[in-house]
Amino acid sequence: MNYKKLVAEKIKENVDLELDVIERIIEIPPKPEMGDYSFPCFQLAKVLRKAPNVIAVELKNKIDTECFSKIENLGPYLNFFVDRDIFTKDIINKILVEKDNYGKSPERANKNIVIEFSSPNIAKPFHVGHLFSTAIGNSLYKMMDFQGYNCTRINHLGDWGTQFGKLISAYKRWCNEDELLKDPIKELLRIYVKFHEEAEKNPSLEDEGRMYFKKLEDGEEEEVKLWKKFKKLSLEKFSKVYDELGVEFDSYAGESFYTDKMDSVVDEIDKCGLLKESNGAKVVMLDKYNMPPCIIKKSDGATIYATRDLAAAVYRKKTYDFDKCIYVVGMDQSLHFRQVFTTLKLMGNTWANSCIHVGFGLVKFANKKLSTRKGDVIFLEDLLDKSINRTLQIIQDKNPDLEDKESVAKKIGIGAVIFTYLKNNREKDIIFDWDEMLSFDGETGPYVQYSYARGKSILRKAGESIEDCGYYGINSEEEFELVKTLSRFNSQIVNAIDKLEPFIVTRYSIDVAKAFNKFYNSCSILNTEDEKIKNFRLRLVEASCQVIKNALNLLGIQVVDRM
Ligand code: ARG
Repeated sequence: MNYKKLVAEKIKENVDLELDVIERIIEIPPKPEMGDYSFPCFQLAKVLRKAPNVIAVELKNKIDTECFSKIENLGPYLNFFVDRDIFTKDIINKILVEKDNYGKSPERANKNIVIEFSSPNIAKPFHVGHLFSTAIGNSLYKMMDFQGYNCTRINHLGDWGTQFGKLISAYKRWCNEDELLKDPIKELLRIYVKFHEEAEKNPSLEDEGRMYFKKLEDGEEEEVKLWKKFKKLSLEKFSKVYDELGVEFDSYAGESFYTDKMDSVVDEIDKCGLLKESNGAKVVMLDKYNMPPCIIKKSDGATIYATRDLAAAVYRKKTYDFDKCIYVVGMDQSLHFRQVFTTLKLMGNTWANSCIHVGFGLVKFANKKLSTRKGDVIFLEDLLDKSINRTLQIIQDKNPDLEDKESVAKKIGIGAVIFTYLKNNREKDIIFDWDEMLSFDGETGPYVQYSYARGKSILRKAGESIEDCGYYGINSEEEFELVKTLSRFNSQIVNAIDKLEPFIVTRYSIDVAKAFNKFYNSCSILNTEDEKIKNFRLRLVEASCQVIKNALNLLGIQVVDRM
């Protein structure tokens, strides 16, 4: 039973508001003594021209209490107290029947969503910012997929642009083939950095780079072959990362994919009378919108990043007929996306309003022990490896007899990193603090995973399968708080999708773990003498584990049965 809906329906019988409006007004009170659902009467006060307190009294007298233990008015609020035993029975049965599907909305969201995320650059390291994009994008994808949206995941690889001319030049001059095979991205980065150092002394190198890029654009065999080689080596490396993270894509159409799709877009812009000359370059003026011009073609006729994004948006609309096209990219590119989306709109594409930049903040480290090797780029591998190794040490200390320590450490270590990324509002900068992040009792990934493993351990000790003996007697506030928390899963997912904010589900997973641990600490489970109470509590443990598993899964984090 959907109690929130039930509350809304009961109110609707007596007031002139739409059901979904009422549902949105309904609140979850902060304290149990204020009930389980609360309807604030402020909005009605405006319509009915009466004081909210008066409306609350009137409603209380009109609404029947069926399915609720009581309904009370408190000031401007109408508070509903559910019949705890019925509520509990409903929720636990629902969870244990629906299992991995628990949390889904009853109706499929029939919408086409394109979600672009990760998008690292070929021949450059996958850095902590790309992991931020990957974690957010993957999680939003999982949530929307779970709710029945029809999603396409795109990895918009940075695999085109003048830098590849420079790289070809650097390759020909300084590349060490052995090193390239050993650690391709490291070697490609080394020669790319060297190119820039040398070009400072010898500017003609820049011309050489441009020349090679021109050859690449013209499809000359040797340059194309080299570019393909760089791309292949990079992709091999990236796929290892994605495998480790359990992330997949439906399309790897990166920037190079649009090389033959840009002319028509540039023509289109021109036809709309938007293309203007500016210092030899072709641009779209955006001063009316308080933005610098969007450069379409550089003075040497070359297209750039923005041109490829314009072509990509048009292509995606045509190919996927999206209701929403989401770009998970750092906030440092906000201006770029505003320029691109505004240009699309000026071209007459009303669908440009459905293009959404989902930005995120910067990644910082609390105690900068992690090597930053070159500049302030932090490599993803260093971050993940370090987290896995530290987790392994912790496990070795805490639970030396654990089987399969490596694989457990991997899930916990990677989970801890992803959890840290998804814990706060995405626009907030992230600070990685190793001790905090890997702690088993803070608001961390390991804490939530540990709660799951603790639940699993109780269920293992309980032995044979736990049957429904029909008893759902709530004997403590801790039990009921846990049940209520479990019941909120779906609304949290819906809210996270609405706001495009995975942290809502991350926080929810912490709430479940906390409520579970409170219950575990205050109610005896295995030692309960009364068989039916014991049975009910075990079912509550099982339901809690299921919800933690489902929530973490939506974040892209795996659970472990023992740790
Ligand atoms: N490759 C870019 C980078 O690493 C991100 C691409 C963002 N997506 C886009 N459609 N422009 O900064």
